[in-house]
Amino acid sequence: MIDQSDIWKKLQKRSQEVEDTTLKVLFEDKDRVKNFSITLDELFVDFSKNLITSAILDDLLELAKTAHLEEKREALFTGEKINTTEKRSVLHTALRDLHSEEVLVDDSDVLENIKKVQNKMEGFSDNIRKGVRRGHTGKNFTSIVNIGIGGSDLGPKMATEALRYYSQREMSFYFVSNIDSSAIDETLLRCDPERTLFIIASKTFTTEETMTNAFTAKEWLLNSLKDASAVEKHFVALSTNKDAVESFGISKENIFEFWDFVGGRYSLPSAIGLSLMISIGKDHFKELLEGYERVDSHFKTAPFEKNIPVIMALIGIWNNNFLSMHSQAILPYSEYLRFFPSYLQQLEMESNGKSVTKEGERVTYDTGQVIWGEAGTNGQHAFYQLLHQGTQKIPADFIGFKESLFNRSEHQKKLLAHFIAQTEALAFGKSKDEVESEGIESSLIPHKSFEGNRPSTTFLFQKLTPQSLGMLIALYEHKVFVQGVIWGINSFDQMGVELGKSLAKKIGQEIEEKRVFFKHDMSTQGLIEKVIEK
Ligand code: F6P
Repeated sequence: MIDQSDIWKKLQKRSQEVEDTTLKVLFEDKDRVKNFSITLDELFVDFSKNLITSAILDDLLELAKTAHLEEKREALFTGEKINTTEKRSVLHTALRDLHSEEVLVDDSDVLENIKKVQNKMEGFSDNIRKGVRRGHTGKNFTSIVNIGIGGSDLGPKMATEALRYYSQREMSFYFVSNIDSSAIDETLLRCDPERTLFIIASKTFTTEETMTNAFTAKEWLLNSLKDASAVEKHFVALSTNKDAVESFGISKENIFEFWDFVGGRYSLPSAIGLSLMISIGKDHFKELLEGYERVDSHFKTAPFEKNIPVIMALIGIWNNNFLSMHSQAILPYSEYLRFFPSYLQQLEMESNGKSVTKEGERVTYDTGQVIWGEAGTNGQHAFYQLLHQGTQKIPADFIGFKESLFNRSEHQKKLLAHFIAQTEALAFGKSKDEVESEGIESSLIPHKSFEGNRPSTTFLFQKLTPQSLGMLIALYEHKVFVQGVIWGINSFDQMGVELGKSLAKKIGQEIEEKRVFFKHDMSTQGLIEKVIEK
């Protein structure tokens, strides 16, 4: 295992080096920002405010080599079956490959089918946007309801909100995921059945939450339009499971296909992005793909020391495995990106929340970090207190944009000031002496001092555009991949979600029949009895 390698052991020893120093001291090096930052087109990534030195970074780069990152990256892009437990290729990169001639899986080219579905999505979204495709009673669609969960919800929901500035304003977009009926019912209350298009997004088309919501939506529509043929006009499906879609009553022509080689949490640039394409139009969607592709090609070709996702991954591993920081905050300074932290939660935690290696051995080191966050500046007035003065150190990614989309420079200047000030405060704090020199009453000095030394990475883009969003998502996707390679785990299955699902099936039966007939522990049994008692 990787923690038995010499380089891992060397890094363990090195952790003492940063315990014994401060960012203040490390910043005495005049070249620190130059050495610890990378520019990619309009993106500037400053990772100088992390607790690293050049020697540590060199060793981390060595660690990546020891884990055979170069070969593994090649295997990813060339469609090797690196999702070993499910025996699947992992080719979300093919979805945004706008330039290659072919990408082969089992000797057949996947690009051709990808292009076919993209063309179909483009035609469909154009027709919805222009009112050419209409509902059963001839009215144009004004409400688009995406029903899906996990990767079939978080991506389109996050991106539709992130790119709302570029959206068709006459239409409203809703995302229903929770099986709690208040999610679908609250949405339906806002929709007119004659003008509502339902997009049923499910890779497997078996997910209980999605199917339950889809049936409720169908019933609601038919109760109002009173004609079974209305389903054809008002329902489309995004899925890999054509048979299940057809048995739900959605015709072949209304299926937008994708494939097993696209994991749910990587599926936004596939058919799963249909609601987004309707919202922003096919040209902006293409720009999003271009952004993804820009980072794919950077990840493929840049030397590791100048490779942003590689550096992101290595810093994450340094913080997690060597400095015992097991949580990571994601702080986008953009209201439009407020769903980005929860999108990344699935991407990172479902991918790397594993405790056995690909070979099935229990790992002897930590893997995926806890990912969480909130849009700045809101978080500043809520949980940043703990980031600044709490007992745990929580590394934070700050994501910001130089220009605002609306021309309100007063807001933008203040937003950017906060964005930068927080990273300065976290890194350098405020010493007791500084507080004292301000004439602060002595009993308050410990309360008003900040120890600093809290790591952060800053991502500064020019402007929030479809392209910059595509770049941002791809950076994190590849970061997750690199970390999975170093930890030796399979980042592309999610078997940890199965047990809860199968237990819920049994308990569901018991609730339905109002009696407990499976064996449970005392607590579980008591809870079921409470739920079913009159
Ligand atoms: O249960 C977890 C999961 O399989 C996720 O990985 C996936 O994104 C989500 O459920 C939804 O799955 P589907 O798209 O098949 O409905």
